[in-house]
Amino acid sequence: MPNLNNKVALITGARRGMGRAHALTLAKYGAKVVVTDISQGECQQVVEEINKQGGHALALKLDVTQKDEVAQVFQAAVQKFGRIDVLVNNAGIAEFQSFLIMSEEEWDKTLDINLKGQFLCAQAAAIQMKKQGSGAIVNIASVAMGQQGIGLPNIAHYCASKGGIAALTEALAVELAQFNIRVNCVAPGIIETPMINTVKSDPKTFEAMLAQVPLRRAGKPEEVSELVAFLASDDSSYMTGSVVVIDGGWLAG
Ligand SMILES: NC(=O)c1ccc[n+]([C@@H]2O[C@H](COP(=O)([O-])OP(=O)(O)OC[C@H]3O[C@@H](n4cnc5c(N)ncnc54)[C@H](O)[C@@H]3O)[C@@H](O)[C@H]2O)c1
Repeated sequence: MPNLNNKVALITGARRGMGRAHALTLAKYGAKVVVTDISQGECQQVVEEINKQGGHALALKLDVTQKDEVAQVFQAAVQKFGRIDVLVNNAGIAEFQSFLIMSEEEWDKTLDINLKGQFLCAQAAAIQMKKQGSGAIVNIASVAMGQQGIGLPNIAHYCASKGGIAALTEALAVELAQFNIRVNCVAPGIIETPMINTVKSDPKTFEAMLAQVPLRRAGKPEEVSELVAFLASDDSSYMTGSVVVIDGGWLAG
């Protein structure tokens, strides 16, 4: 079991889905958790669940595309818990659109939330972690990040953003190692969250996707959280710059 006692973790996009599971799991392993998302009310519900488990958490509203808000949230988190040891860059959207009619606005929205958001949060975290002399950043990409043998139609902006996250992870791992800050990336396959509702609404497409997964099922958010907790903990102390796929065997199949 990873030991996250005395660590403070900030998670983006944590009101629901995988972010919520990461918040609960990291708290279960002892971390104090800063639960952030675009809606503070839903973050507060996650905080209450953590409190019930006997953990410590703080809910803060954070739109990851807003630089000023990112600065304020990191400041408030440090004020409350004194430090930031872990950042889980989880916030993301997946909006389907055919490439030939994809608007510049649609492209920018996805890239801003999925990729620029990770840049802004990683920078704010790294500035704090450098002061502390250590830290772990876990970026969430996807098997749709490119160069994996999976090309997904009608979601070019999403795929491009996730490829950017894998590249960002490597670049930051190299640049921040001198400050004892590790940067790794988790690339999930199909995971049971509200994000896949659109795909699930077309049972044939969903079945066809699952048919490519050797384990023949979608993953559970908590299964991904165990990997995130490992990468956040000192158990992964010699890992940095890694992109770890968690996909029920999809890429191997
Ligand atoms: N579910 C999957 O199959 C799957 C597969 C691969 C990767 N992922 C990635 O996992 C991460 C979590 O997704 P999920 O599946 O839990 O989906 P989800 O839609 O349940 O959660 C995404 C969260 O991001 C938040 N968010 C959206 N815009 C934001 C913004 N501007 N600022 C802050 N937060 C914002 C949403 O409010 C939501 O809570 C995403 O990065 C997603 O791309 C998901």
